[in-house]
Amino acid sequence: MANNFLKKIEAQINNSIILKDETIMAPYLIDWRGNFRGNAKAILMPTDTQMVSTIMQIADTENQTIVPQGGNTGLVGGGIPDQTGESVILSLKKMNSIIEFSPENRTIIAQSGCILQQIHELVEKQNLCLPLTLAAKGSCTIGGNLATNAGGLNVLRYGSMREQCLGLEVVLADGAIINQLEPLRKDNTGYDLKNLFIGSEGTLGIITASCLKLVSKPKVKSTSIAVIEKFEHSLKLLEMLQNYSGDQVDSFEIMPKTLLDIVYKQFPDISQPIKPYSGFILLMEISSSKSDNLEDNTLGKSFLQNIMECFLEQAYSDNLISNAVVAQNESQRQAFWTIRENAPQATKQESWPINTDISVRRDKLAEFYNFASIEVAKICNKSRICGYGHVGDGNLHFNVVEAEEGDPNWSDKRAQILQVIYDSLEKFSGSISAEHGIGQLKTNQLINTKDPNHYHIMTKIKNSLDPKNLLNPGRIIN
Ligand code: FAD
Ligand code: LAC
Ligand code: ZN
Repeated sequence: MANNFLKKIEAQINNSIILKDETIMAPYLIDWRGNFRGNAKAILMPTDTQMVSTIMQIADTENQTIVPQGGNTGLVGGGIPDQTGESVILSLKKMNSIIEFSPENRTIIAQSGCILQQIHELVEKQNLCLPLTLAAKGSCTIGGNLATNAGGLNVLRYGSMREQCLGLEVVLADGAIINQLEPLRKDNTGYDLKNLFIGSEGTLGIITASCLKLVSKPKVKSTSIAVIEKFEHSLKLLEMLQNYSGDQVDSFEIMPKTLLDIVYKQFPDISQPIKPYSGFILLMEISSSKSDNLEDNTLGKSFLQNIMECFLEQAYSDNLISNAVVAQNESQRQAFWTIRENAPQATKQESWPINTDISVRRDKLAEFYNFASIEVAKICNKSRICGYGHVGDGNLHFNVVEAEEGDPNWSDKRAQILQVIYDSLEKFSGSISAEHGIGQLKTNQLINTKDPNHYHIMTKIKNSLDPKNLLNPGRIIN
């Protein structure tokens, strides 16, 4: 069957879009963390939507399973085929053109293979900004960001990828094309299919292009790092900073000392802006697109810098922070972010960490953190709890790293530790995936935790849009 498929692709499109060389294929067959390895008959690299449609028409007649892939930075194995070698990867990488950039309309229409950072660089030239940002920005694609409804570092202020999207172009399992790329800001004409495809991880359709909203590029930013002894102080500080800044908080990230130690150990060249540190640090950023020169600019500091300093002084006198540092220029700001953005890589290099992506209602997050930490310590009191991330969104990567001196039983303990984290999460009615999605990693957990009626409707939607289960089988719905 599948050989027929490739023969038909060759005949109806072109041989040049088919990759079969093992060495070339290798990086497409393993995920960023090295946790998922798969095989595939071939990789297809279409260059336009019509080609994707033809591929899906042929897949439909030949019963060929297709795994869409963007930048392959996903963290739940969603873009990696299974090991049978029966699937074909459809890479969107070569579909990387800008269809329309309209600064007047503050929108950009882009093919799905565009890299997030390239969109950032393009729109910034017109003083505009696509606010979604994450550490993988240099290699993840807009299509992958949409397919996973990516979150990242600015969700607190701007929302996740879903909130940035006005419309999509999608190729369905039978090759039909839905085109909804018109930059309409309001459109209440029936069911919102766009939001069904966003976050569907390639299981309902192939997102070939999208229309995204842009906002003003921030002209002034103030970024600080503060040391807190107790996790619970973070929520009070967020509330305070929102009040001081008039809801201008872009990012509010937490990192425990355990994680900083690992980042500095793995990357000794990274500068340490705050020493000594203990407990946790918060990385906070406020921004404004308003020009600085209209404001009271005491001591030559930006008005946001003044706000940040007043906030930190108050926090210090309220005993909520024990130390703080404010970035004095863009290179110091970048240095602060380098620490945070290297957290996933550093823990990966340090050991084989337990990774999670949980969310809990924000006012219960500290309680969850403390509870889960005690439960983990009962199994392994030397393991390093590295719960870090988007505390402002109630979203933590509650990760656990092996004891520094090594642990001969680490492989055995991993499952137990994961179990107590998820048992703790259940007590707090949290979500097993805040931003990375389900992929192949969490399909069983999804069945066990999702409301059964909700899950049932999800399977009905999948069956109705992809009755032959050709699109990314075994992902989300098992
Ligand atoms: P891929 O990995 O290629 O694919 C992801 C999923 O989407 C797969 O299921 C795939 O089948 C599907 N897919 C891809 N393209 C399409 C398409 N065009 N149409 C239909 N389906 C498609 N995520 C966050 O949310 N927040 C973070 O802060 C964050 N930080 C990260 C940091 C690092 C260092 C890394 C490696 C990853 C991080 N991620 C984060 C994970 C995140 O999901 C991805 O980086 C990104 O959104 C995926 O884009 P991609 O192009 O790499 O998609
Ligand atoms: C982060 C990724 C792992 O926030 O989501 O670092
Ligand atoms: Zn994250």
